[in-house]
Amino acid sequence: MSLRLRLLRWGHRLPLHRLPFHLSVALSSWGRRHLWKLLAERVPATVTTPPPHAARHLWGLCFRAPLFNAAGMFKYGEGYELAYRQGAGAYLAGTATDLPRRGRISAGICQPFASYPRSRAALNALGLPNPGHSALARRIARLPRYPGFPIGVSVAVDPELPPEEALPRLLGGLRQYVDAGVDFIELNESCPNVPHNASWRAVEFRLRWLAEHFLQHRERFVPVVVKVSLDLSPEMLTVLLHLLLHLGYDGITLGNTSTAYEALLPAIAPEEQPAYSHFWQRFGGGISGAPLRERRRELIRLASAWLAQSRPEREFHLIAAGGILCPDDLTAALADGASLAQWYTGYLFALDEHGDALYRHMYAGIPADP
Ligand SMILES: Cc1cc2nc3c(=O)[nH]c(=O)nc-3n(C[C@H](O)[C@H](O)[C@H](O)COP(=O)(O)O)c2cc1C
Repeated sequence: MSLRLRLLRWGHRLPLHRLPFHLSVALSSWGRRHLWKLLAERVPATVTTPPPHAARHLWGLCFRAPLFNAAGMFKYGEGYELAYRQGAGAYLAGTATDLPRRGRISAGICQPFASYPRSRAALNALGLPNPGHSALARRIARLPRYPGFPIGVSVAVDPELPPEEALPRLLGGLRQYVDAGVDFIELNESCPNVPHNASWRAVEFRLRWLAEHFLQHRERFVPVVVKVSLDLSPEMLTVLLHLLLHLGYDGITLGNTSTAYEALLPAIAPEEQPAYSHFWQRFGGGISGAPLRERRRELIRLASAWLAQSRPEREFHLIAAGGILCPDDLTAALADGASLAQWYTGYLFALDEHGDALYRHMYAGIPADP
């Protein structure tokens, strides 16, 4: 095992939650930023090729496997070779905004993050650090291309700008990504770590505006999916699906981190609960990992049943994200009706346990494309 993977293992196994709260978050946040840079720049010596029956065909694209990184893992367009060589089914860069962002600094801590290994969970309040659309699009344009390995980009409106300025900037970014050759786009409508307007009216306005200014004018078909929070109620999910189909969006990612801190407390191991509660009371942030598993399953099943009943004439796909940690989670997500799946927190734990064989491990028992 390489030194960088050993460092990750040590980082995960340190009982940081036993340290004074501020120190433990400062160490985890520092460790995440610096260790991740080292890990993402690695180029594994061996290439894992997913089994042929793992391939999925949607939107006219071939994904050599249904699992890949969730948004936020490769914010700067790094880690492309790593993802390909480890055997991911695609690569997703971002989330990016038009203006570059350094992320949040709170109580002297840059990009607060904490991991709860016993609970297989994490909390993050990073504040959407990213290099901005122009820099990310330039980087994507330079990436080599591999068959069956589509490139996606996650984008968001600049949260501090008014919509009349933020939306045209986003449109400019989307055009740069199309020119850079991206295969699909994920619109992040759900970051809990920035002060965006998440009211239904504001979301609906943004979705309608983008449909009118981008979806209806695609010279090259680049599918656009919308990523929403797993805190969405079943009723709102149905309303949203109806709107997305009507406006011409191509899928939905279910979903982003949760802010249901107290409701998810029972999913946190008792010894990690004090550190967990301290974190959200101090920084807010989004919960990821195993505590999201049930919510993600419920929403994917609901969306799948709704689509089966509505029988849309166009291709519309569900992407599962949240609490995918082991092969059974992936198989269950596909059985629930997802066409593709993404992971972030589970990836970090699996990298610790399985090293570069982590995707191979996840594809054990995967069914063929139905
Ligand atoms: C450290 C961290 C940073 C994240 N950054 C982003 C982001 O920039 N954009 C986004 O849409 N989601 C972001 N997410 C959410 C993930 O993409 C994913 O939706 C969420 O973590 C649930 O999946 P998981 O349980 O596999 O981690 C982030 C998650 C983590 C843990």
